[in-house]
Amino acid sequence: MLTNTSNDVAQGQEFVGHGKPLFLRRIRNTGRSVLPVRDCIRLRFAQFCRHAMGGHRVIAFENVGFNYGGGELLSDVSLRLAPGSFHFLTGPSGAGKSTFLKLAYAELRPTAGRVSIFDRDARMMTRDDVALSRRRIGVVHQDCQFLDHLPLATNVALPLTVASRTGDAQDLTALLDWVGLGKLADALPPQLSGGERQRAALARAIIMSPDVILADEPTGNLDWEMSLRLLTLLVELNRMGKTILIATHDMNLIRQAKSQLAARVLRIQNRRVQLAGADL
Ligand SMILES: Nc1ncnc2c1ncn2[C@@H]1O[C@H](COP(=O)(O)OP(=O)(O)OP(=O)(O)O)[C@@H](O)[C@H]1O
Ligand SMILES: [Mg+2]
Repeated sequence: MLTNTSNDVAQGQEFVGHGKPLFLRRIRNTGRSVLPVRDCIRLRFAQFCRHAMGGHRVIAFENVGFNYGGGELLSDVSLRLAPGSFHFLTGPSGAGKSTFLKLAYAELRPTAGRVSIFDRDARMMTRDDVALSRRRIGVVHQDCQFLDHLPLATNVALPLTVASRTGDAQDLTALLDWVGLGKLADALPPQLSGGERQRAALARAIIMSPDVILADEPTGNLDWEMSLRLLTLLVELNRMGKTILIATHDMNLIRQAKSQLAARVLRIQNRRVQLAGADL
């Protein structure tokens, strides 16, 4: 049970205690870069610095409760996401998975308890603070929406535009290639398949080099082959040091991920968020 404990649900154990600089191990482990090189180096260095400082939680829930005005939807939820951890969030439809994610990126504020995002109390965050934190948290929404009149590449680069940051065209091309959409850079969103839209949503979520990726049913409407492809991208991002949380119903996807890395599974049940056992 996690509901009444402040223990870490993930210790980021794969990042601790190996005695070698993290970015060196990363380079050896992954063997190749899948994101633009500059981005990889920046990410690895940032991750290394956090590790060298002893690491910290990126998102923490302390006795959190939430309701939309009616009955309590989430109750007494306490957990921490450690840097570099990989979690799934499961639970029946309507259990509150999307709500949980929205609390984690301060789209919603808790009605009880405290949510900390990069050690800031979400209740104290101004709109500007929230906007800044979003640069460190990439979100793949359940209904990945795009501006239909703008080409895919422009849609993916939109977070950079909104943040008044100029993107490197080569980086954007490399990112689109990485998610397998290089040839569709000029396509309009309505021309994309479901799998292409999901991969575009992932590209848009990571274009700001976030530390954390929250993905809400990213494989919801995809066939198995495309789900695996998307999972591979998320696993690869995790190996580069990103903290990943995926809300999903797909038990096969969870089993597949667990065969590749130390993913943990959180389950929403009876308004509580519990760490699921190994019985998946
Ligand atoms: N803005 C809102 N106002 C009122 N109730 C809401 C709102 N958003 C969600 N809910 C309700 O809160 C409950 C949890 O919704 P949520 O979307 O978090 O569930 P979920 O676990 O993500 O479901 P699914 O698996 O179908 O995506 C549902 O009963 C839903 O109707
Ligand atoms: Mg949902």
